[in-house]
Amino acid sequence: MFQKHKVRLSEQRIAIVGGGSIGVGWAVVFGRAGVETALYEPDVSRRTEVAAELEQRLSRLSAGGLLDEAPALAAARVRLAETLEEAVGDATHVQECAPESLELKRELFRELDALTPARVPLASASSALVASAFASELPGRERCLVAHPGNPPYLLPIVELVPARFTDAEVVERAGALFATVGMSPVLVRREVEGFVFNRLQGALLREAYCLVRDGVASVDDVDRVVRDGLGRRWAAIGPFETAELNTRGGIEAHAEMLGPAYARMGAERGQNDPWTPELVARVAGELHERLPPERWEEHVSWRDEALIALERARRESGLFESTAAA
Ligand SMILES: NC(=O)c1ccc[n+]([C@@H]2O[C@H](COP(=O)([O-])OP(=O)(O)OC[C@H]3O[C@@H](n4cnc5c(N)ncnc54)[C@H](O)[C@@H]3O)[C@@H](O)[C@H]2O)c1
Repeated sequence: MFQKHKVRLSEQRIAIVGGGSIGVGWAVVFGRAGVETALYEPDVSRRTEVAAELEQRLSRLSAGGLLDEAPALAAARVRLAETLEEAVGDATHVQECAPESLELKRELFRELDALTPARVPLASASSALVASAFASELPGRERCLVAHPGNPPYLLPIVELVPARFTDAEVVERAGALFATVGMSPVLVRREVEGFVFNRLQGALLREAYCLVRDGVASVDDVDRVVRDGLGRRWAAIGPFETAELNTRGGIEAHAEMLGPAYARMGAERGQNDPWTPELVARVAGELHERLPPERWEEHVSWRDEALIALERARRESGLFESTAAA
């Protein structure tokens, strides 16, 4: 996926529209990858902060050993554009990072569609609004999509690509190839659903966390601690399906058989009725086993442990987590 298009970064011109947290975050990603980038921020007072913030974030990466060159060199690839037109006039990819407002994004995409050369992908960082909501009326709607990052994008490589029904598949491919080439980890969200995948997963956990606190089952700190010192540490190396596979001899199918009924009861307590049917479990197992064949289960369990050891060593060496651990 997303490897079909060869991307020459020297030929890319990125336009970032909106210089808040995410706009500056994307500027770090593209500047760090060696790509010429223009950033447009309409708020004059905010504009004066952008350059300093960019340098600061790049310097932090450099101090952490995560930048291959002087921060100033990466920062120099990002120029502040005076106008929207100047930012997008020669763009090969536009990354919109303006506030999460439907009216604002509708108007902004209308302008972007008019000002940006034809066929250039117009990607929105939107967390919840979908391209069908803000781009469906545009003449160039086939080049509009959502490219939703985590925060900060220069440390969380995930980016969710969410095309509308009208988005050209080739545009999605090209945007995905660009993100992959600058070190991101693009995933395709196949349908426009609220929250995409990232926030739906995050929401499932957060909804339950609120319920547990409301019902007096655990304190706020203890809920955070269960994630910080348990679930989250494992998730730093492997995802939830991989966890189910590697936690149980017999893999994810044995896991579903053993724990499926208990998870179904927990869901029913919250009014959710989405059983893991045998067909669904078999489909998940089938996809998962293409990457983690059952005959290599022991090897993957060892890898998981090695990965957790490496992460634990990094935590200890950093000295950053002592206060959290002591809390
Ligand atoms: N903050 C997050 O955790 C996060 C994560 C993923 C995605 N997002 C999404 O990214 C987008 C930007 O979020 P943010 O947190 O950077 O917001 P922010 O408020 O920090 O920054 C938005 C910037 O856009 C500027 N702006 C306002 N009107 C504009 C316009 N018409 N054209 C261009 N720029 C304009 C603002 O002056 C501001 O500097 C939103 O859609 C948000 O939902 C945010």
